[in-house]
Amino acid sequence: MEANTAPALDPKAFRAALGSFATGVTVITTRAADGSPVGLTANSFNSVSLDPPMVLWSLAKKSHSLAVFSNCSHWAVHVLAADQEDLSGRFARSGTDKFSGLEVGNGFGDVPLLAGCAARFQCQSTFQHEGGDHLIFVGEVAAFDRSDRAPLVFHAGRYAMAAQRDPSLPPARSARVAGGLDEDLLGYLLGRAYFQFHQGVRDKARAAGLTDAQWIVAAALTARDGVHADDLSAALGYVLDEPLPPLLQLMRSDGWVHADPLGRWHLTPSGRDRSLHLLAAAKAHEGDLLSRWSYDEGALLKLQLQKFIAATNPGFPDLWHEA
Ligand SMILES: Cc1cc2nc3c(=O)[nH]c(=O)nc-3n(C[C@H](O)[C@H](O)[C@H](O)COP(=O)(O)O)c2cc1C
Repeated sequence: MEANTAPALDPKAFRAALGSFATGVTVITTRAADGSPVGLTANSFNSVSLDPPMVLWSLAKKSHSLAVFSNCSHWAVHVLAADQEDLSGRFARSGTDKFSGLEVGNGFGDVPLLAGCAARFQCQSTFQHEGGDHLIFVGEVAAFDRSDRAPLVFHAGRYAMAAQRDPSLPPARSARVAGGLDEDLLGYLLGRAYFQFHQGVRDKARAAGLTDAQWIVAAALTARDGVHADDLSAALGYVLDEPLPPLLQLMRSDGWVHADPLGRWHLTPSGRDRSLHLLAAAKAHEGDLLSRWSYDEGALLKLQLQKFIAATNPGFPDLWHEA
């Protein structure tokens, strides 16, 4: 750990150290004396007291909205949901019409209220304290509401999502310790997760007369029809451990695929129909599994896997995102 002590305290390092503290993201709104709505993104929000219910946040003195917040009677804190990153970006930009096109309600003191948040606290502005280059606002909560939406997280200068831990699993270990030759081994986790997840779909593919490799080819041709064998081979190189041409010939004789005069492979109408049924079953299997978790946990898992795939891709072409 690097020590940084005053007076040599490095502002950049100080910011980075503060960023280690993961926070939520809020948008604080109020109304100016001329009736215009005012707001900004803030992650300095915190709870202060339960009785009376009080919260605080701090505003940079150089902020355009300083005068309005210093003189208003009420403000509202909107704890943003995981899918409200856009809103955070919008309210972090000075000098724009931040409310343009937004559906806005009216709260205590005529304060503009935004929708779709994880929680909202409508507050009477009770104290202001000096805090260096910021002004600290303390408010008494007059009303609040919350939803089950997962919160947006801010950590180390970037947006993040929170994944809840399963209390039945052992506590998280440091990344340095994890990854031993046990159930922490990433390859083991990925492989086992894949085989367990895939089992339900594999049984259905087998019943339809497809081997694992043939099912992968059928699924690929369902997503992108009319592909040369070489391109298909290159794109599926990470998963096929047998040569593609004999596989395609076999699928052709079983009525799954056909080649056009230019040598591009297509699913036959009946092949497409059967493949779509299998894909629907795979999607239903996924839906079944993900319904056991919150929407955001499923989204987070997919996000992490996409990052992992991008980081480990040695250069396989992406068949599905080509023009
Ligand atoms: C995630 C995030 C957190 C922020 N937290 C604060 C904060 O707590 N206080 C603050 O004054 N500015 C904060 N900002 C910066 C303001 O949102 C930004 O300076 C905004 O443009 C100020 O608006 P205004 O100048 O219109 O008042 C934050 C920005 C982001 C993206």
